[in-house]
Amino acid sequence: MLTTVLMVAAGSGSRLQAGVPKAMVTLSDGHTMLEHCLDSVVAARDAGAVELNAIAVVVPGDPDYAASLEAICQDFAARAGVTVQTVPGGTERADSVRAGLSAVRELAGSAGGPFGRHALLVHDAARPFVPPTVFSAVVTALETGTAAVVPAVEVVDTIKTVGGEASDEVTGTLQRTQLRAVQTPQGFDLTSLEAAHRLVEEGAGGAAALTDDAMAMEAAGHRVVVVAGDPLGFKITTQLDLTLANALLASGTS
Ligand code: C5P
Repeated sequence: MLTTVLMVAAGSGSRLQAGVPKAMVTLSDGHTMLEHCLDSVVAARDAGAVELNAIAVVVPGDPDYAASLEAICQDFAARAGVTVQTVPGGTERADSVRAGLSAVRELAGSAGGPFGRHALLVHDAARPFVPPTVFSAVVTALETGTAAVVPAVEVVDTIKTVGGEASDEVTGTLQRTQLRAVQTPQGFDLTSLEAAHRLVEEGAGGAAALTDDAMAMEAAGHRVVVVAGDPLGFKITTQLDLTLANALLASGTS
């Protein structure tokens, strides 16, 4: 089904401490994180995993950073033969997704796709190595009529909840077999995700509480389906993640 990708790249990357937004960080092969993430989308298209309509990239509000990322996007668009449109983001990730949704609606156009459904993949511009198999698994699940799909991997650590004044007391232990670490791209029926985000925005929860988009769908009462993610879909958050990414590039694994 016809699919538009919404790539959120407006984060500051404060935990990476690179001095520039995370999407602008250059990996050891000389390409930025954003280029790698855009590349993985087009690799999925070229592998036949995604019938790609266009990509909307949500960029930081700072005009200098926005201009740099816009230039990267337009250069990539010309090389890859895909429409890429940038849009300024917001304070929290969910604000950036909401800002991007209006651009996606325009890019999706009025035709909407078969039966009026248009697939949307929301993707972090911080996961440079997601293989086409993950895109394929998400889109295949959407094609069966599911409104929300997340790729996920099993959790290796034991996860405990904490409390107390300094969050230094264990209050419980979650059953590891029931836990999954969720990645992106997350797949949605576009109209359903728009409605779910509106609902959450109007509700008491507030945007800051949303750490992914499936949470909005869960809050709206949708069934969210899990498909196989991939260890290579890891998110670059810290310097250690960046070291791993550069080691993977050096070893030719990615
Ligand atoms: O902060 P976190 O690691 O969850 O960010 C995941 C993705 O969301 C990153 O690609 C980041 O650029 C994006 N983001 C955004 N706008 C924000 C915060 C994060 O687009 N305000």
